[in-house]
Amino acid sequence: MDKNQKLELIWSAIRKAYPKRKLVFNDGDPDSQVMIIGEAPGQDEERQGKPFVGRAGKLMTGTLEALGWKRSDFYISNIVKYRPSDELGKNRTPTDDEIGKFRPAIEKEIAVVDPKLIVLVGRVAMAGMGLSGSMGENRGRIIEKDGRKFLITYHPAAILRNINWEPQFREDLGKIRELV
Ligand code: URA
Repeated sequence: MDKNQKLELIWSAIRKAYPKRKLVFNDGDPDSQVMIIGEAPGQDEERQGKPFVGRAGKLMTGTLEALGWKRSDFYISNIVKYRPSDELGKNRTPTDDEIGKFRPAIEKEIAVVDPKLIVLVGRVAMAGMGLSGSMGENRGRIIEKDGRKFLITYHPAAILRNINWEPQFREDLGKIRELV
């Protein structure tokens, strides 16, 4: 079985568990050495069925391109595969319970892709993968856990809110080149 077939098995289990949800799975190259993991899709991602295609995703893609990469050089995914929304239909942060339910699937996804480096964007992705510490402490750091290498950086939506953090975001993503 190739990687896409193995991933398809994970997606079909998730589809079965969430038959009524609009689900957003992966994008990019399952053979990439670099996997980028975010928290959950937003409205644009839900509409297009792909992770990181809205405003924040475009900022992340633009930063990677400025560093000489193409989006398709990476494997991109989220921990939670549906858009968490509140009573008004607005995006909200996934709960610990939601993250816990999706954790086994993302672990399997990581095992299939088997990347050399996992880039965790944002606090939710970091905590969701079981890494402790604050974003202030961890951003720009490379953390090894369970035989995997993680690079931590800000969520691109945080850069949209505070453009002063853009140089650090760029500097963090610039480390990918040294690590693969
Ligand atoms: N934010 C995320 O964490 N993931 C997406 O796919 C889009 C926005």
